[in-house]
Amino acid sequence: MDIREQYKILEFGDLGDDRGNLVVVEGEQDIPFEIKRVFYIYGSDEKVIRGQHANRKAEFVLINVSGTSKVRVDNGFQEEIIELNRPRMGLYLPTMLWKDMYDFSRDSVLLVLSNIHYDGGEYIRDYEEYLKEVKGLEKT
Ligand code: TYD
Repeated sequence: MDIREQYKILEFGDLGDDRGNLVVVEGEQDIPFEIKRVFYIYGSDEKVIRGQHANRKAEFVLINVSGTSKVRVDNGFQEEIIELNRPRMGLYLPTMLWKDMYDFSRDSVLLVLSNIHYDGGEYIRDYEEYLKEVKGLEKT
């Protein structure tokens, strides 16, 4: 499948008024899953690479609520780089996509929503193992 059909760029509405902006993200409405977990990453800089894993069960929506970062997604055949640079922009990542997050601006606050609670066992952190799985090869 074309990688551009695997991830989705989401655009959230703004309920703001002259008091400021207000962005609401509701599970199963603005994003395609029920939200079970929220975490956020800040204090990373342009030298840091985070992520570097794929997930068998976790789906994510990434939102740079402040600042900017880049996400490289890889499905074993193709890769794409997406810049998160607006608080109203979300990036939906399905299971089994390899992802790296990097190029964090100093003021970056990267908010992440997920469909499941944390389970370290559903992570694939070895790229060669990931490639074997997505390419359907037998494990040695
Ligand atoms: P890590 O997976 O390296 O963060 P990322 O890949 O998103 O940059 O997570 C760092 C540590 O935090 C690791 O020991 C696992 C733990 N962790 C949790 O306990 N719960 C979570 O929801 C997340 C994302 C990480």
